[in-house]
Amino acid sequence: AKTHYHDFVIQATPVKRLCKTHSTITVNGMYPGPTLEVNNGDTLVINVVNRARYNATIHWHGVRQMRTGWADGPEFVTQCPIRPGGSYTYRFTIQGQEGTLWWHAHSSWLRATVYGALIIRPKEGDSYPFPKPRRETPLLLGEWWDANPIDVVRQATRTGAAPNVSDAYTINGQPGDLYNCSSKDTIIVPVDSGETNLLRIINSGLNQQLFFTVANHKLTVVGADASYVKPFTTTVLMLGPGQTTDVLITADQLPARYYIAARAYASAQGAPFDNTTTTAILDYKSAPCPAKDVSVKPVMPNLPAFNDTATATAFSKSFRSPRKALVPTEIDENLFFTVGLGLNNCPIGSSPANCQGPNGTRFTASMNNVSFVLPSSFSLLQAHQQGIPGVFTTDFPGVPPVKFDYTGNVSQSLQQPVPGTKVYKLKYGARVQLVIQGTSIFTAENHPIHLHGYDFYIIAEGFGNFDPNKDTAKFNLVDPPLRNTASVPVGGWSVIRFVADNPGVWLMHCHLDVHITWGLAMAFIVENGVGELETLELPPADLPLC
Ligand code: C2O
Repeated sequence: AKTHYHDFVIQATPVKRLCKTHSTITVNGMYPGPTLEVNNGDTLVINVVNRARYNATIHWHGVRQMRTGWADGPEFVTQCPIRPGGSYTYRFTIQGQEGTLWWHAHSSWLRATVYGALIIRPKEGDSYPFPKPRRETPLLLGEWWDANPIDVVRQATRTGAAPNVSDAYTINGQPGDLYNCSSKDTIIVPVDSGETNLLRIINSGLNQQLFFTVANHKLTVVGADASYVKPFTTTVLMLGPGQTTDVLITADQLPARYYIAARAYASAQGAPFDNTTTTAILDYKSAPCPAKDVSVKPVMPNLPAFNDTATATAFSKSFRSPRKALVPTEIDENLFFTVGLGLNNCPIGSSPANCQGPNGTRFTASMNNVSFVLPSSFSLLQAHQQGIPGVFTTDFPGVPPVKFDYTGNVSQSLQQPVPGTKVYKLKYGARVQLVIQGTSIFTAENHPIHLHGYDFYIIAEGFGNFDPNKDTAKFNLVDPPLRNTASVPVGGWSVIRFVADNPGVWLMHCHLDVHITWGLAMAFIVENGVGELETLELPPADLPLC
């Protein structure tokens, strides 16, 4: 196994998009940032230097970080932010994961432009469990704002209203030729007739679930979130922010140019969303000249309607592990978390300018009615490891404090989540089942729920209220897919299982950044087990303190 050394300099860089030049926060002047390519078993050592005027951290999304929680990255959870002028070296080893992950800033909304791909090939000497593709192409789907994304979230936090939606979606940082001033920079993916390309698709967007398709071509899904899946063929993918999907595409159509396209899956009823379409071009190198004429538009695919929940659900139900899964059959912890939005009454004495949510309220969000508040004087991990009191409390409820008709017509009195820095403690090795139940408080919405430090099996999902008497019959304990981000269906639920075998403090949150801003998060503390191999490592000497 190799060790890969990289320097990441976070800095402001002029970036021109949609006819305007912005001072954009990037890594090494690149947007998206550098692609990291490693093999399973390799170690990464990444020295991050912060030359921007914002606090920053980098999270290695989906990397298990076995015993190396100090390198996970979420600010105030596993480290204090790297202050402007500061630096921190992340050191971790890829253990057993193969496929596509990614990295992104985990501080305010910096990840809007600070992100990149992490490609994990099989262990040296091993091969893919599918025929080796001729080419591999990472495709990072993103969102672009015509304003500074940090200003967008600051304004939303001040006013209590929903933030502005993005102005464009992007593929590898480019909106594509359906947007103004973007045509000549549209991403081209070259192919030879007959060859197979492995597309590594990442939804690195901030707030939007996306449908993805390629005109006239079939997509064979072979992996997701750096785990292989039983291959299946589809024409449309749906990815929540945080999720990755690896697909094989064979150039078996007439030589021509075909659009690769993504647009919103907007599941929240009535909520505004960016209704534009981003494109790249699949370009047959052998295409005859007329097809190369750029005044002739590439073949346009059919994308599902923005509210096509049936397509999103059918896609997510197609995932299976390639072989019998190591899903725990017995459970020690039977947890049930509600996830959803809420509205806070305008605090007494505050000005209407700060209460511009629906009917003079402020938007909020919660899990089990707790709206998560980050600490500020110590990271949770440091407080846990050094036994510093007063930073968090361990009373995060394992089940909803109040039972109600979660997906029904919910009363106003349930719309006031309680702010808190609450964690839930797990014993080392605990076998955990967690029902994640969406609520319809204010509005029902699909939530991409991401757990740091773990992969988990999604053993069932459905609509309405989870019913333990009926729905346990639907559990797949044979070959459920292994993921790090679950797309909890709109007005429905997902059930996940995992074994708490990685000691540390692990954030779980909705990967729509607007929801994490509003508090849709919690953290698990997983205690040390017995012996060195079950114990969190000591913190690195350069760990940023608050
Ligand atoms: Cu990719 Cu906490 O997130």
